[in-house]
Amino acid sequence: MDIGKLQDFNSNYVGDYPLLRKLAEDWAERKPLRGLRLLHNIPITRETMLKLEPLYLSGADVTVTHLRLPGLEPKQECVDLLKAAGAHMELDHAKLYGDYDIALDCCAQIPAMERVTVRRGFVELTQSGSPVYSKLDTDLPIYSLDLSRLKCLEAMFGTGEAFVRAFRQFVEPRIEGRKFVLFGYGKVGRGVSRYLAQEGAMLTVVDTNGANLEQARKAGFDTELSRPGPSLLNAVNDSFVVVMATGCEGLLQELIKPKQLADKVLLINMGADDEFGDRYAASRIVANKAPLNFLLDAPTTMFFIDPIFAVHNQCCEHVLDGNAHGFSPLPPELDLPVIEEWSTLYGIDISDIYY
Ligand SMILES: NC(=O)c1ccc[n+]([C@@H]2O[C@H](COP(=O)([O-])OP(=O)(O)OC[C@H]3O[C@@H](n4cnc5c(N)ncnc54)[C@H](O)[C@@H]3O)[C@@H](O)[C@H]2O)c1
Repeated sequence: MDIGKLQDFNSNYVGDYPLLRKLAEDWAERKPLRGLRLLHNIPITRETMLKLEPLYLSGADVTVTHLRLPGLEPKQECVDLLKAAGAHMELDHAKLYGDYDIALDCCAQIPAMERVTVRRGFVELTQSGSPVYSKLDTDLPIYSLDLSRLKCLEAMFGTGEAFVRAFRQFVEPRIEGRKFVLFGYGKVGRGVSRYLAQEGAMLTVVDTNGANLEQARKAGFDTELSRPGPSLLNAVNDSFVVVMATGCEGLLQELIKPKQLADKVLLINMGADDEFGDRYAASRIVANKAPLNFLLDAPTTMFFIDPIFAVHNQCCEHVLDGNAHGFSPLPPELDLPVIEEWSTLYGIDISDIYY
């Protein structure tokens, strides 16, 4: 792998990423992952290239693949660069095989790779991976970054901001006065609702969790319990857009059959799974079921995703420590102290992440 080619490519990046930069400097000197084989499975975007740089500088032997999700394509310029630099890369999950020390994963796709064996541990980036990893029969460490406050920084700020930017760019410039029905008032849902509210959208929040619905009401939104019935159907059919952000695969078809849904209602995914289900054709969903923000050149502004990308990498050192066994949250020293560092750098009020 010619790291110089990657570094040249990254040197043209417009955007701030202090935590990954710091990690790159530290790992270039210490080489803590020298000789280890890593399998890296997250969406291949321009920002992912910045995340990969410290991993290569750490001395690791990295194999890069791309998150498999309907409608989600890797960024071609990044694939071309990695090829030109001689990186180990295989985009087809079925063709991946062999032993790896550490899996840097998203949506728990690596345990499903039949010919891949992971020897030391796993680090999972997002909520959709939790159901699989929390039940994985292994004593190896599995760090779930979803179990952290730091993940709220990405989801409640970065993803919410990116949703509105993508909506304006690819769907409809006018948001004010439009009716949105938002499924899921967790991290991503709260972010989407915050930025939509700032734009004057009329919002109905749908969730199964009574406490979350109560918080949504206090924030000034209409609410609906997530269950099949005329009340939910009317809210959905009266809306301009439905946005899914629950992490529940196939949820919408369980609640509303495609034939019950008015043709005029736009359907948008923000989750990392197909939240509509097979009975909804990909062509019926904006972006063919891919999370809407992944249509953007920067699906999440680097500034917001830098901390979670840095700690996804840093967890490799914790895997090597061997202190954790089984499914664990992000180590505390990588959570609040990193938020503190980020807040001190940027001085942004992020108190809402402690909901
Ligand atoms: N697009 C992106 O850039 C991006 C970024 C981060 C996470 N994600 C993905 O977004 C999805 C949501 O992640 P999150 O971190 O907000 O999860 P979360 O666990 O914080 O929130 C999920 C919410 O959905 C609610 N919910 C669960 N079942 C429901 C149901 N049947 N009906 C309605 N609501 C229900 C939960 O009560 C909760 O409020 C996941 O797939 C995650 O991987 C996407």
